[in-house]
Amino acid sequence: MPNKLSIQTAAFAGVSAPLTIIYAAEGQAPTGAAAAIWSATSLDWHTVSASAAFKGKQGQALDIIGQGAGRLIVLGKGKADEKAPFNAWTDRGGSLFAKIAAARAESVAVIVDEPGATPAAIAELAAGLRLRHYKFDKYKTVRPDEPAGDIAITLHVADPTATDTAIANRGAVVEGTLLARDLINEPANVLGPVEFAARAAELSALGVDVEILEPAELEKLGMGSLLCVAQGSDRPARLVVMQWRGGDVGAAPLAFVGKGVVFDTGGISIKPAASMEEMKGDMGGAAAVTGLMRALAGRKAPVNAVGVIGLVENMPSGNAVRPGDIVTAMSGTTIEVINTDAEGRLVLADALWYTQDRFKPRFMINLATLTGAVIVALGHEHAGLFSNNDELAIQLLNAGLTANEKLWRMPLSPAYDKLIESKFADIRNSVGRPAGSITAAQFLQRFVNNVPWAHLDIAGTAFGTSATEINASWSAGFGVALLDRLVRDYYQG
Ligand code: BES
Ligand code: MN
Ligand code: ZN
Repeated sequence: MPNKLSIQTAAFAGVSAPLTIIYAAEGQAPTGAAAAIWSATSLDWHTVSASAAFKGKQGQALDIIGQGAGRLIVLGKGKADEKAPFNAWTDRGGSLFAKIAAARAESVAVIVDEPGATPAAIAELAAGLRLRHYKFDKYKTVRPDEPAGDIAITLHVADPTATDTAIANRGAVVEGTLLARDLINEPANVLGPVEFAARAAELSALGVDVEILEPAELEKLGMGSLLCVAQGSDRPARLVVMQWRGGDVGAAPLAFVGKGVVFDTGGISIKPAASMEEMKGDMGGAAAVTGLMRALAGRKAPVNAVGVIGLVENMPSGNAVRPGDIVTAMSGTTIEVINTDAEGRLVLADALWYTQDRFKPRFMINLATLTGAVIVALGHEHAGLFSNNDELAIQLLNAGLTANEKLWRMPLSPAYDKLIESKFADIRNSVGRPAGSITAAQFLQRFVNNVPWAHLDIAGTAFGTSATEINASWSAGFGVALLDRLVRDYYQG
């Protein structure tokens, strides 16, 4: 087990810890409660900061040892007048955790006293601490460089009570993100469709209603598209339906649908060996949906929401679906399987149809590690956004900027739609290299009726991103904070 992190708040009076951390803005001595801490050292600010070449720039640190009771670190926070975006606070929490871990401190007091330090801002800082602390090292039997003990951080703030409430609320979303990371990082031998469904079922402890549909049921529903992907695997498919009812009784829910391919070999159209191990993360969409449901339930969001995830394993075998096979989706649409590696859209076709048919949602948003082509287009900085609804698209773009999980909108049109027509069936699941992410989106749209809908292609952002201030793990848990933001900012009462 990694070392535990606990975060609590206290007022400015009575700061006492082996390590105290304060902030200073660029070109300024510490102010407010931080000034009081500094003056207890009896050191002259100008002399000390000048001799250490400390200018208060972001990332700079001034480490003072042996003055008074303990150790004092002054962290630079950049320009004082800078109107920092909200997520700068999250990043600040992340770099703060890195500093504390590097200092090998176990008990730390942090003074947060500045004009922008609202309870919501400090909750972001606390979220950043926890997100950066996350490690997936349960399979490491040897861990060099591990700090010896647990870490307890006390945030000294102006309004501890209000800050506690804000931290708890934001903490529910952190837990959702960390759940998504855990699910994505877990190898496929441990997390198959059945095991994933069992993890989702654990959300019932938070008041989420969880149904698990097995293959016989899916067969009865006519999900020939989803089931053909699973048929090559010894491990049976599952469709999980998670419902959170925090809103008005009977009000149409917000619907979230996730691609949950627990491992994608490509099937008979098998993938090359290089980096195939990363395909354990091909359930990143389903993980984000599950994490989001956890976040909404954890903070008792006043909305009705439903999460639907299609869980399958894409394997080659004597029973696997072949190129050229024609299957019938729940909607009645026939699909020619050109490439068995274009399996995500086959799973989502039935999951989307089922969701809109059963729940008549207010909107339907799906997340999927759908195409390598979106990585070619956008790299790892933005996820691809496709939508049939401008209002929903703009809300998502804004939520992405606020949560720092950014989206970039890409087009849909009848001309692209035409490309997915099949010689033998209604549509085909693979077209060829040009506009690969768009033709995949067009395929999904064939299974969406008049509901406002958005598809997020998270192939470049769900895993394998470079380390950030708030993530040192292979998987970022992309999508949970973004969709929680969407719900918070636009759909809560
Ligand atoms: N799971 C992959 C997409 C992917 C690639 C996700 C890299 C994350 C990282 C998806 O199932 C896939 O194989 N897509 C094919 C589609 C093609 C056969 C039309 C692709 O992108 O090559
Ligand atoms: Mn594939
Ligand atoms: Zn896939």
